Amino acid sequence: MFGRTPIALLALLIAAVAIVAACGNPGESVVAQPTALAPQDEITPITADPADSDGEPATQEPAPSGGVAVPTAFITTCGICHTVADTGAAGQVGPELTHIGTIASTRTDLGAEAYIRQSIEDPTAFLAPGFGPVMPGGMDAALGSEFDAVVAYLVSLQ
Ligand code: HEC
Repeated sequence: MFGRTPIALLALLIAAVAIVAACGNPGESVVAQPTALAPQDEITPITADPADSDGEPATQEPAPSGGVAVPTAFITTCGICHTVADTGAAGQVGPELTHIGTIASTRTDLGAEAYIRQSIEDPTAFLAPGFGPVMPGGMDAALGSEFDAVVAYLVSLQ
């Protein structure tokens, strides 16, 4: 008898507290949920905005002058040695290629596109002034199906 009464009272107390807690402030809990969600809704656009402006892949940026998109293979394969302004290509080993479309036409009698193709397929055929035979051959194979796109991109860099 004495053993059960406190337990029954305790159970009643807990039930009463639970009912009061559940029904006592219905307005509070309803208000609290949207308040807690609001900051999350604000955080999403804040983290998305810097990603859109700063995290934008360089490969989707238009070329500074020509408006031709930078091929991904150029950044990853050639960008380790060559720089094109305002792209992910920032290498310092070879000549800057920011205006190679214009410069290429002055290098040999080949014309800009043919010179650029030769520079990639057979880099030592003509050495850019001031540079040694450092560029490896076979880079056209490394570019694979993007070779023509890279040549067209470089020709567009006036
Ligand atoms: C290991 C460094 C290195 C890599 C990688 C490299 N190059 Fe070069 N590149 C050079 C050097 C050094 C020169 C200058 C010597 C010469 O003309 O071969 C050069 C020259 C050139 C030239 C002629 C530039 C001028 O002013 O006449 C072009 C065009 C060129 N590279 C394109 C590319 C392309 C496209 C790729 C990627 C497929 C590439 N290079 C990868 C080092 C590199």
